[in-house]
Amino acid sequence: MPIRVHVVFIGLGLIFLVVGMAFGIWMGINKDFQFADAHAHWNLVGFVTSTLYGLIHRAYPKLADSRLSWPQCIVHVVGVLIFAPGIIYVVATDQPIFAIIGALTILAAALMFMFIYYTHDHRIAAD
Ligand code: HEM
Repeated sequence: MPIRVHVVFIGLGLIFLVVGMAFGIWMGINKDFQFADAHAHWNLVGFVTSTLYGLIHRAYPKLADSRLSWPQCIVHVVGVLIFAPGIIYVVATDQPIFAIIGALTILAAALMFMFIYYTHDHRIAAD
């Protein structure tokens, strides 16, 4: 059975959640909150957004027919992996380059998802 995009989104979202929680616990133990923004965005873009993409795919199965569905998933995950560490980097070094690249990458993934949704959701009636 082929791997399905919603399974990957939700599975990766859960990994992002556990890592993000561990990061939050680390911040609490060390009373070091300088990276709270990175923790928040890791969880919100990594866990919440990925899981929502997965659940929307599950709600509208025709979206996975799009040739863009896997590229969109890959662009989003790569964006998360650049963006949240990029926020740590900008806090630590004042260099925003990775945060900017990561932000533009997750924005590109959101635009791709919007395109997939608007060009495929009408077919839900056929499900
Ligand atoms: C074991 C689970 C978690 C722990 C121990 C934890 C811990 C923390 C800590 C210590 C802070 C910094 C608070 C401060 O600056 O005063 C924080 C901030 C935050 N966390 Fe978490 N967190 C957890 C899970 C999550 C999850 C699942 C989300 C989102 C889905 C989340 C979203 C946020 C947000 C939005 C902030 C505010 C960031 C900011 O002020 O810049 N956290 N968390």
